Amino acid sequence: MNKKMWSGRFSSETDAGVDSFNSSIAFDSRMYKQDIRGSIAHASMLADSGIISRFDSDSIITGLKQIESDLDEGRLDFDPDAEDIHMFIESQLTSRIGQAGKKLHTGRSRNDQVALDMKLYLRDDIEEMKRYLVGFCRTLLHLAQANIETVMPGYTHLQRAQPITFAHHLMAYVQMFQRDLSRLEDCLRRMDTSPLGAGALAGTTYPLNRESTAKALGFSGPVLNSLDAVSDRDHVIEYTSDMAIIMVHISRLSEEVILWSTTEFGFVDLDDAFSTGSSIMPQKKNPDVAELSRGKSGRVFGDLMALLTIMKGLPLAYNKDMQEDKESVLDASDTVKSCLGAFTGMIKTLKVNKTAMASAAAGGFTNATDLADYFVRKGLPFRDAHEVSGKLVAYCISKGLTLEQLPLDVYREFSDLAEDDLYDAIGLMKCVNDRDLTGGPAFEVVRKLIKESYVELERYSSSVV
Ligand code: ARG
Repeated sequence: MNKKMWSGRFSSETDAGVDSFNSSIAFDSRMYKQDIRGSIAHASMLADSGIISRFDSDSIITGLKQIESDLDEGRLDFDPDAEDIHMFIESQLTSRIGQAGKKLHTGRSRNDQVALDMKLYLRDDIEEMKRYLVGFCRTLLHLAQANIETVMPGYTHLQRAQPITFAHHLMAYVQMFQRDLSRLEDCLRRMDTSPLGAGALAGTTYPLNRESTAKALGFSGPVLNSLDAVSDRDHVIEYTSDMAIIMVHISRLSEEVILWSTTEFGFVDLDDAFSTGSSIMPQKKNPDVAELSRGKSGRVFGDLMALLTIMKGLPLAYNKDMQEDKESVLDASDTVKSCLGAFTGMIKTLKVNKTAMASAAAGGFTNATDLADYFVRKGLPFRDAHEVSGKLVAYCISKGLTLEQLPLDVYREFSDLAEDDLYDAIGLMKCVNDRDLTGGPAFEVVRKLIKESYVELERYSSSVV
């Protein structure tokens, strides 16, 4: 058993079960790069401030860089018995460079260290997450572009409501995922302060330069209260809420893809590469990617709930409970990335059945509102127009006809305002294109929004470093 770095005041060994219960190396080893980056900034500031010698600082930095490249290249394995990533790297350093290694932790605590590592990790993670989201949005935009004129029914209560286009429907999701991107940028802005120098909880008596480590690590400045610096996990919760909201969006789209790919809807056909079969029913082709993504939303909501619950009763400042934040946030991040990855492939390869969409739009009286609007234009108050159109729909249902198929003389039995131009007014394409106000489904409006969204995504991807 290795000697513990904090063993000074202890007279006997820790119980082996407690050692393994306590250890976080199995999951916080993922933060080794961030831990080393933070330690390098700290060591170089210690020398700048005259707290350790330049010689010691240089040898610490060289040692840390070697450890990093050994871990990168697989020449060094994490010790599963280490208490956490911080202890592992520090003990590696000391075994490599000797006495100077023992000076790295001057004016620092694992409490400000872990808070820093987490922020650095999430900052890197958010850049990667943005790349996933941008890639997925581009895939949606591409599909929308090809379906600007694909008429389909828009639904409310899952009942056919008014004609829209497939592009218009997809663009609603692009809006959601663009908001997700902007939420991540908000999250980044709010976590832009460095905890380093807060020590265990009350700062330190060494003349540390917190501003310089903050700057070296790319933060706008230090956290302004030492207790808050080590006990704040708002950014972990905020990031995970962002993940939960992304999963809500993915899950809603999943539900639609599942419905659209049923024989009953038949709006889309999933590529074989993104569907699975049944072990008993030879005819089955199942939308597993969409179903799993819908299911995994539950996991991410659980991660968020875990974090909120972990934090809600903790007195200031650090408590070991906070070690539990990592598995939840990492799981949320991994899950969202895996869903976005699989979803992007599924959407890229999906085939659209334009005829099925058009006949669904034609079959469900989706132009009944436009019929009412026609009567309004002829001088009828909207409520009366609604009533007449409703009666016409009921009549058509009883005769098995669509509104387009109903002869003019029958229309005139319901209202003498009906004239020849009625058929033009209820044509599906016209119904869509007359809705050309901002945010509407008209071809030109959607075409413009697609263009603008490409530009907006360009902004997000160029802010990805
Ligand atoms: N592994 C710990 C965590 O993740 C690091 C901080 C430990 N601090 C302490 N005072 N025991 O929270």
